[in-house]
Amino acid sequence: MIDIHTHILPGIDDGAPDIETSVQAMRAAVDAGITDVVCTSHFLRGQYHNPRSITLPLMQELQALARKHDIPLKLHIGAEVMLDSTIPESIGELELFIADTHYVLVESEINAMPVNFLDLLFEIVRRGWKPVLAHPERYPAIMSNLSIAEDLLHRNVHLQINSGSLLGGYGGKVQETAWKMIERGCAHFLASDTHARGNENTLKKATELLTERFDAYTVELLTRINPAKLLADEPIDYVYLNLVKQPKQQNLFTRARDFLLGR
Ligand SMILES: [Fe+2]
Repeated sequence: MIDIHTHILPGIDDGAPDIETSVQAMRAAVDAGITDVVCTSHFLRGQYHNPRSITLPLMQELQALARKHDIPLKLHIGAEVMLDSTIPESIGELELFIADTHYVLVESEINAMPVNFLDLLFEIVRRGWKPVLAHPERYPAIMSNLSIAEDLLHRNVHLQINSGSLLGGYGGKVQETAWKMIERGCAHFLASDTHARGNENTLKKATELLTERFDAYTVELLTRINPAKLLADEPIDYVYLNLVKQPKQQNLFTRARDFLLGR
């Protein structure tokens, strides 16, 4: 699996506080079946100033440590960018996009989306970037009105659900919203958003549950196919139909025939 949203770089946001914790988070990722991780430390004006000139050397140091400790994990650089009015121009200037792609992970104030939320996203898209909105299921506005999420698909915005949301880690309402969004095809990625607390990466449990309740293909799509396309800077469908495979209904005649033929 490819985890496109993590806070494992040490000491620069509210994620891993030190390098030992970062190494532990890399081990947890490998234990969860993750092969690639995008390091998306917060970029939040006035609080976390983390342009690529700061994050990249840290990521390279961590990648070297992974090699030294035989941790088979490939790291990629990125950021989780808090939307503000000057962000559209900062994405290019400060290299806040993911790896060498046009994809950029964004978030906004959870409890009070800014009034210019859609304008900012539009401006980002207009400049050629491909915004991926982090954990939309955690926004109260979306929880009470799923059509906001559906509308975003038509505005060239991809959506990333947190694995912890599916497991109830942010409360029942967020959990319900996350499952509904996946049901309705309002999800392109499932990622951990790990802040390196504890020894587990929640992506493992969430994908097991998703396989059980949906199918293995949905897991494949959200954790491998789409993330691989993202890293290759390939287009990803905004709107798609999430097919639920139903067992074939058999009529009485077919069942009787199969019984007689011993099938
Ligand atoms: Fe995050």
